[in-house]
Amino acid sequence: MTKFPPSELLNSLPKQFFAALTKKASQFIEQGYDVINLGQGNPDQPTPKHIVAKLQEAAANPLNHKYSPFQGFSYFKQAAVDFYMREYGVSLDPDKEVAILFGGKAGLVEIPQCLLNPGDTILVPDPGYPDYWSGIALAKAEMVTMPLREENHFLPNYQELSSDNLADAKLMFLNYPNNPTGAVATKEFFEETVKLANDHNICIVHDFAYGAIGFDGIKPLSFLQAKGAKNIGVEIYTLSKTYNMAGWRVAFAVGNESIISSIELLQDHLYVSLFGAVQEAAAEALTGPQECVRELTRLYEQRRNVLIDGLKAIGWEVTAPKGSFFAWLKVPKGYTSEEFSTILLEQAHIMVAPGIGFGSFGEGFVRVGLLSSEERLIEAVSRIRSLQIV
Ligand SMILES: Cc1ncc(COP(=O)(O)O)c(C=O)c1O
Repeated sequence: MTKFPPSELLNSLPKQFFAALTKKASQFIEQGYDVINLGQGNPDQPTPKHIVAKLQEAAANPLNHKYSPFQGFSYFKQAAVDFYMREYGVSLDPDKEVAILFGGKAGLVEIPQCLLNPGDTILVPDPGYPDYWSGIALAKAEMVTMPLREENHFLPNYQELSSDNLADAKLMFLNYPNNPTGAVATKEFFEETVKLANDHNICIVHDFAYGAIGFDGIKPLSFLQAKGAKNIGVEIYTLSKTYNMAGWRVAFAVGNESIISSIELLQDHLYVSLFGAVQEAAAEALTGPQECVRELTRLYEQRRNVLIDGLKAIGWEVTAPKGSFFAWLKVPKGYTSEEFSTILLEQAHIMVAPGIGFGSFGEGFVRVGLLSSEERLIEAVSRIRSLQIV
């Protein structure tokens, strides 16, 4: 076989940090060990039945067997608009302010390619969701990181950005409820962000993947609720987490008209829109019964309580996340995040994600997912107790 080398662009893509750890965990599983996987972010619950039923019905409709309209069906865009009005009191124009996406990841990777030229500056949270780096690499843009520190509730401190960085920056990624820290944003923070964006002409992309998952009575805020946000940014909303539809690949971007039209232009060249039956089911998810969402949030909150209470009881000083389905735990003194994760995997057969994989300010932490049952979380705590390392 002739081996064709990948392009320079492909070679420039960031390496998948977590691949090595996942491979090691698989080896333990193959050897017959009972590995508790708290390292990944794959929702464990099924999609609610009424959404699956809508897909089944819509899949049988021959109209859905044809190409979908390039920019998606207008009923799905209208459902996204109705959802934003119902949940956040935000009004949107379905024709100009909504773009349908093949999952949030697609939008996050597309936006730098839509708005940046090689060498342009983009501001990115550290620690942050690694997929942001992929779109930045494809756009050949320069990344400037914004540290998320515990003392600032894992919000970036804009005072730390140099005037050069602010002058150069064209785009900023934010994500609250936050992966990996579990922090939530405040109204004041979003208002400050809008002001900064206006002052320096920066486009804000708020990744609202965990929008439905807030604890202790907190309903996470949409960035678009901040006055003027729609003028300077977009929000990406995925159905992956809210409705356990990660495998379905469906999301949408809402907000600034010029960004939405650039996303649609790029997508016109890349794809035809999603399978019509998926769009019908997605519209049903957004506008149908919402008790399933409340139930899901209760389930994650209950798991969070079990995990955090359990870890505190064995002497590990941990802080409870306010949202998302991750806990961000400080590693005990004397270990790096990678060393500690390796010990947990090799000696307790528990997989967690080392914080360093999310950026240098993730060092000193591990990310633990709440995507296993309470029994498994209790078992994980008991295995950690036996190690006597916390
Ligand atoms: C912070 C964050 N953003 C976006 C996504 C992408 O979700 P999807 O592509 O399934 O919509 C994820 C998924 O794990 C995530 O954690």
